[in-house]
Amino acid sequence: MQKITENILWTGIKDWDLRHFHGQELSTQRGTTYNAYIILDKKNVLVDTVWPPHALPFMDEIRAFGVENIDAIIINHMEPDHGGTLGMIMDIKPDIPIYCTQKGKEIITSYFRKDWNFVTVKTGDTLDIGENTLTFVEMKMIHWPDSMMVYADKEKVLFSNDAFGQHYCTKSLFNDEVDNHELYQEAIKYYANILTPFASLIKSKVLEINKLGLDVKIIAPSHGVLWRENPFQIVEKYLEWSDSYQEDFVVVIYDTMYQSTKKMAEGIEKGLRGKGVLVKLYNAAVTDPSYLLTEIFKSKGMAVGSCTVNNGAMASIHTLVHEIRSHKFKDKPFLAFGSHGWSGEAARDIHEGLLAAKLSPVANPVTAKYNPGEDVLEACEKAGAMLADILKI
Ligand code: FEO
Repeated sequence: MQKITENILWTGIKDWDLRHFHGQELSTQRGTTYNAYIILDKKNVLVDTVWPPHALPFMDEIRAFGVENIDAIIINHMEPDHGGTLGMIMDIKPDIPIYCTQKGKEIITSYFRKDWNFVTVKTGDTLDIGENTLTFVEMKMIHWPDSMMVYADKEKVLFSNDAFGQHYCTKSLFNDEVDNHELYQEAIKYYANILTPFASLIKSKVLEINKLGLDVKIIAPSHGVLWRENPFQIVEKYLEWSDSYQEDFVVVIYDTMYQSTKKMAEGIEKGLRGKGVLVKLYNAAVTDPSYLLTEIFKSKGMAVGSCTVNNGAMASIHTLVHEIRSHKFKDKPFLAFGSHGWSGEAARDIHEGLLAAKLSPVANPVTAKYNPGEDVLEACEKAGAMLADILKI
């Protein structure tokens, strides 16, 4: 355990070795942490638990503190990386009141099948624990239906759960003691991959939190480092990221079998560069998909291409188009392209998939039969230039 303020202990787990999260969906090259906390007051309150594969060291700490000394548990969110070890504590002291949202109660009950002493809370509800009054703020669908935050007024700490987190395991627990370039790489990757689908909710929720005018000394998320130096910097970033965020570059992403689609990608890149645009070119088959989604999130627009195989796009691009759609990216004009031998569905499928994602094409798909000749490469270059003009970079 480590003190983060005079009366708050961090009792989480540092998972240095984790390289994938949410099954294999999300890469975590810098590991992660599962942050749990104990507020020491007249009533001692445990805020969240950890992912069950790390239950043993977590429970060693909790037992050393004394389960009998825990007067209440707050489960801000019952995804197993935060609520998963709740059952081990409740097995020892089954009457501890559990504070959570109504949805939280339903989800906890679904996981553990136990009728524990639940106290359901809503935004604005408070809990007096002695020196601190705790105020609950629902965060519905940021990113689960049960998500919420809690604020401890005397300690001035906002326990934000997944919001404002990062999959970033470091020696220090605080933002002013880590490499901030790495920190922001992880914070934006986390936002792009996990929170983008909920961007419109995030914007209104952040504005609501700002209106509460909380005097916050530390924002303490459930993953990664705590925001101690200028804690609202990450809140401001979330406002920026949730508002059609764009940086001044274009991504050209392709998959290829015999280099024909790669040559087309390079033609499009040439057209973009000719207009002075910064371009990032990626082969989706050999690039970390979580990184690619982050790059798309940051980009001003994109060109996506694949050759046709078995009447469709190659697997990496097929999956990528699905991910773009499910992440609900906005304001990313696109161009589809691809080579083929005979049937030629890939470029059309990419085009239609991105249309279904409610994104706007800058032109019809550019295609090549077998090997792109000079005429096709010229068309690719022109399409790249057109993309640059439309994006007004
Ligand atoms: Fe970190 Fe939604 O769990």
